[in-house]
Amino acid sequence: MVAIVLFLLLINEFPVAIAQQRNSIISLNSSLSPNNNPFWLSGSGLFAFGFYKKDEGFAIGIWLEKVRQKTVLWTANRDDPQLPKDVTLLLTSDGRLVLQQKLGQQIALSNAPQPASSASMLNTGDFVLYNSNSTIIWETVDVPTDTILAGQRLLAGNDLVSSISKANHASGKFRLIMQKDGNLVQYPANSPAAPEYAYWNTKTATAGDNVSLNLDSNGQLYLLNTTGFNIKNLNGPSNLSDNAFYRLTIDPDGILRLYSHSLNQDDDWSIEWLSSSNNCDPIGLCGLNAYCTLMDQEATCVCSPGFAFIDEGQKDLGCHRNFRPDGCKSKNGETFYLSELEGLTWEDNPYSTLASTKIACREDCLKDCYCEAALFKDQQCRKQKLPLRFGRRQQVELGTTLIKVGVASSETTQVSTRIKKHMQKDVLIGSSAILAFALIVLAITAILIHRHRVWEYRKTNKYGNDELIEDVALRSYTYPELEKVTNGFSDELGKGAFGTVFKGVMSNGRRVVAIKRLEKVVAEARGILYLHEECENQIIHCDIKPENILLDEHKCPKVADFGLAKLLRPNQSRTYTGIRGTRGYVAPEWHRDLPITVKADVYSYGIMLLEIICGRRKMETDLSEQKVVLANWVYDCFENSELDKLVEDEEVDKSKLERMVRVGLWCIQEEPSLRPSMKKVVLMLEGTVEIPTPPSPTSFLSCM
Ligand SMILES: *[C@@H]1O[C@H](CO)[C@@H](O)[C@H](O)[C@H]1NC(C)=O
Ligand SMILES: *[C@@H]1O[C@H](CO)[C@@H](O)[C@H](O)[C@H]1NC(C)=O
Ligand SMILES: *[C@@H]1O[C@H](CO)[C@@H](O)[C@H](O)[C@H]1NC(C)=O
Ligand SMILES: *[C@@H]1O[C@H](CO)[C@@H](O)[C@H](O)[C@H]1NC(C)=O
Ligand SMILES: *[C@@H]1O[C@H](CO)[C@@H](O)[C@H](O)[C@H]1NC(C)=O
Repeated sequence: MVAIVLFLLLINEFPVAIAQQRNSIISLNSSLSPNNNPFWLSGSGLFAFGFYKKDEGFAIGIWLEKVRQKTVLWTANRDDPQLPKDVTLLLTSDGRLVLQQKLGQQIALSNAPQPASSASMLNTGDFVLYNSNSTIIWETVDVPTDTILAGQRLLAGNDLVSSISKANHASGKFRLIMQKDGNLVQYPANSPAAPEYAYWNTKTATAGDNVSLNLDSNGQLYLLNTTGFNIKNLNGPSNLSDNAFYRLTIDPDGILRLYSHSLNQDDDWSIEWLSSSNNCDPIGLCGLNAYCTLMDQEATCVCSPGFAFIDEGQKDLGCHRNFRPDGCKSKNGETFYLSELEGLTWEDNPYSTLASTKIACREDCLKDCYCEAALFKDQQCRKQKLPLRFGRRQQVELGTTLIKVGVASSETTQVSTRIKKHMQKDVLIGSSAILAFALIVLAITAILIHRHRVWEYRKTNKYGNDELIEDVALRSYTYPELEKVTNGFSDELGKGAFGTVFKGVMSNGRRVVAIKRLEKVVAEARGILYLHEECENQIIHCDIKPENILLDEHKCPKVADFGLAKLLRPNQSRTYTGIRGTRGYVAPEWHRDLPITVKADVYSYGIMLLEIICGRRKMETDLSEQKVVLANWVYDCFENSELDKLVEDEEVDKSKLERMVRVGLWCIQEEPSLRPSMKKVVLMLEGTVEIPTPPSPTSFLSCM
């Protein structure tokens, strides 16, 4: 505690006299630590390199030491967690700049191509490493974070990424790229560098392949082409001239600002120039399903109708639905209506575009269960799936946003939630119906996964017995047997659309089971007869999802809840039926009036497999935008050969992981005929057959 107080005093009241005693050349074997000797100063005493305070811990960076507002200008390993107070920053005797942790582990802070002989915090705000010939071999200017200083430049191909906030310098939402085509452009940090995502640019895209952004010591901001010609001044001449220092920062709100600070250390920063005066210009300020609108010139995030903030305290995190849609129960729009918003723009990412009138567009979207919103613009109806991204109110592009809003609550949802609760208490399902094939596949998957320790699905409890019993044989029970097991159907666990779930006890009290009694079905859809003859029939389960896969005490998976199952006669391989199943796991063809085949279950299975691999749900709105939709994120990681991101720090067999991801991606192809059969899935998971590289799950759609 005393140490921290001392350090704070040092940071705040560091006397310039001491600063000037310091040598700006830092020799090998020098070190810094947060509690004593936290930083090295530049010769002028203006800039410091070392430990600064971040939340409860520390970060390494460069900041202006002489002024009252200690602005951080650069941060090392900005996305790493804060550092504890017992770390040391070392310029090692063999010439490496490293962070040494308590247990001796070292993290490199530079990637200099050769060993350093010395280092220096220069008076320009650049921290450099020299080789034995006093040539600079590494400098912080080459790896800028969100700021460049007077005298520095941003070379072609480099970018600045905004910080999360003024206090947290981890990577935020926006970036500025000095493009190789000569254009200086601002984009959302997680969008492609494509024209439709650019929200500001210098319109110099034809200026050649080596244009640099320069900031002079007199505050002039300009672009130079490769032969050194000034091709564009971004700001006018400054009044302050040399009696100030300047920085150009892409701020957390996405706007690029040139700041000046007079040499009077008590002054504040003043804004000399900014890229945009409309604070809603930066695309993606407001997170998913929200849009930006100006209130008294302030950018304000507003949730789309039918949505609520994920966190009222952090409105830029975006919004999630404030109702639980349950598929598309009604074809005539009873459970949904469309809310209209005017004058907003969104990411243009439709799955279907049709020439239309507004009225026809409304009707079309209402009827189409797949349609969650529609953008009507230029007499075109552009139907979209959620989440909606990059919403902002703009005067120029007028269009209408139609958002599907609904009132929904369903018995099915309640049952799932209840069953999930019980799943954690090792409940084994003894369903009166059993789906043979999926069961075997699931068992094999679980065995493969489990044996190779790829996962421990977070929703299940851990307990000692790891031995798997391949208990996949089918067994049917008579009604009196079930009546006995459930003590006369007395202990009700939940109610579903097709029946009621009861608690039962089997094997002389050693097994707790959940039993579903089909009600409406029995009254009619010959239920028990069907169930007895099911093995000759194909069954489409229709509701494959984690809540319906229960693990017994040996972690052997059981498929549960056949309330929605659809039976196929032997000579029938496809069926048309009203939508069944749980949103998120149901295959796209349910929404599109296409015939339903057993491939619908393959889709649900694929989604679930990806969830198991990644240990998360198929949609998690509190994650960063590129991760929200599991299927998209998995495909992105697969395409970029970054599968290790999916399992984070877990140790897994890489080739098995890749095999499972490939299978998952094949299963979730939007085009049913591309999905493998369950039999093929088994063979692929076992490694018996080669698995070709899967296309993007939506590739077929985009070709249409
Ligand atoms: C660095 O420090 C170690 C131990 O403190 C010492 O043995 C070594 O000689 C030093 N090297 C240089 C180059 O000063
Ligand atoms: C230093 O300079 C000399 C002569 O210019 C050169 O031969 C040597 O390779 C250089 N050393 C390094 C480490 O660059
Ligand atoms: C790129 O342009 C800068 C001036 O903006 C110049 O100093 C540098 O030498 C050029 N680099 C190449 C490879 O042409
Ligand atoms: C740089 O700009 C000058 C002036 O516009 C032009 O004459 C010159 O050709 C440009 N250089 C290149 C390599 O495009
Ligand atoms: C610079 O000076 C001119 C006139 O001297 C004044 O009109 C202008 O507002 C000043 N600009 C700034 C940024 O202070």
